[in-house]
Amino acid sequence: MKNWKPNTWRNKPAKHLPVYSNEGKLNQVLKEISKFPPLVFAGESRSLKTQLKDVSEGKAFLFQGGDCAESFEEFHPDHIRDLFKVMLQVSLILTVSSHLPIVKIGRVAGQFSKPRSSPTENVNGKELPSYLGDNINGMKFDEQSRIPDPDRLLRAYSQSASTLNLLRAFSQGGYADLSKVHLWNMSFVNESANKKFKEIQNRVSDALQFMEACGITVEQNRRLRTVNFYTSHEALHLPFEQAMTRIDSTTGEWHDTSAHFLWIGDRTRQINGAHVEFCRGIKNPIGIKCGPSLDPKELVKLAEVLNPENEPGRLTLIARFGHDKIKKNLPKMIQAIKKAGKKVAWVCDPMHGNTIKASTGFKTRPFKDIISETKSFFEIHHDEGTYAGGLHIEMTGKNVTECIGGAQKITDKDLSSRYHTHCDPRLNANQAIELAFLISEEIKKNSKYSINSIKKAS
Ligand code: PEP
Ligand code: CO
Repeated sequence: MKNWKPNTWRNKPAKHLPVYSNEGKLNQVLKEISKFPPLVFAGESRSLKTQLKDVSEGKAFLFQGGDCAESFEEFHPDHIRDLFKVMLQVSLILTVSSHLPIVKIGRVAGQFSKPRSSPTENVNGKELPSYLGDNINGMKFDEQSRIPDPDRLLRAYSQSASTLNLLRAFSQGGYADLSKVHLWNMSFVNESANKKFKEIQNRVSDALQFMEACGITVEQNRRLRTVNFYTSHEALHLPFEQAMTRIDSTTGEWHDTSAHFLWIGDRTRQINGAHVEFCRGIKNPIGIKCGPSLDPKELVKLAEVLNPENEPGRLTLIARFGHDKIKKNLPKMIQAIKKAGKKVAWVCDPMHGNTIKASTGFKTRPFKDIISETKSFFEIHHDEGTYAGGLHIEMTGKNVTECIGGAQKITDKDLSSRYHTHCDPRLNANQAIELAFLISEEIKKNSKYSINSIKKAS
């Protein structure tokens, strides 16, 4: 990579970075972090890139989900387990209907820093700096909490390390065993979803029994007992990301070892900006959030800068336009990318363009708008002859009341009862599973296999 070092982003304009009053302290903390063990191994990020290549070619589907912002307060083994479990359940629903492998990436084990629409927050006439994520400052609305504190980066590293440790244990240690699928209980899912999920469990059991009769057992086949689960977060806090960027001793390449997959947010994707500069040099697979203000020509330039060799799997474009804007914006982006011959995976984030303020003052997202944007995403790709490669959603395994609608019929008035997010409203487990059932048919129609069979038949 020409003229690139982990610190060259410092010569570029950077948006949304915290300003620390004690720079000496910050540098001391960063120096300490730069000696900590990597959270992920470069070889894992390379495997993920290979799987994302399959996503870009319609041979696999990406499911990326987790908190908008992880927090110190919600840090609990049950919270991690519940997210993991719902991600397995959603993936199972999608695999059974689409017959595609589902690539699983959590917004987890490092998703702390947040870009905010305003640098300050005003409550009852009092103005304070905005909350920027638990690894920077505190959410409590008082002066002291809102001061960026470098020590929070150490606590976030430690939380990420133990979160990842548990996720690795669940993925490899037997929790994801397909012969135990009936133990992934659906604690608060409604009756109809429960019934449909039971049908899926029965189909899986039947298939396993059939395979066993043919001599293929779960005990002998690791693939049936384990899953690959990857981590991701927004590459926003560049000083921290720089401290986690190391040379992979097996290849000599630079990797950001804070997560397998990093994405550039919609507010920090300026072509000459610091975030793009940082991401162009690391070898991890990279996502770019594409919102309504993005110009298709700019997107093509971003693809050139971030993926000069046009390596499939390197770039995932995450469309987040909103249910009312996707039809106007997405086709021209797809056409520009197609015309330029760029190899990318297209993924839908139906959350960030559909945020509204409820009558009760809470930030929320109507479930019907999330479904509508997702369905449009599939339709548009179908019309353009490209693959709808995946879903990127903010969700939790908990029974929160943050997004309105869905089978539970959550209303504006219900929001206050279990509104726990530290930033944007998340789908709860019920809503995530409902979404999976609602889109499973669309995925089936949009895979390489069905598009090829349609071509063959016609
Ligand atoms: C996010 O993913 O939480 C986020 C801030 O997204 P975007 O950059 O798309 O607004
Ligand atoms: Co968010």
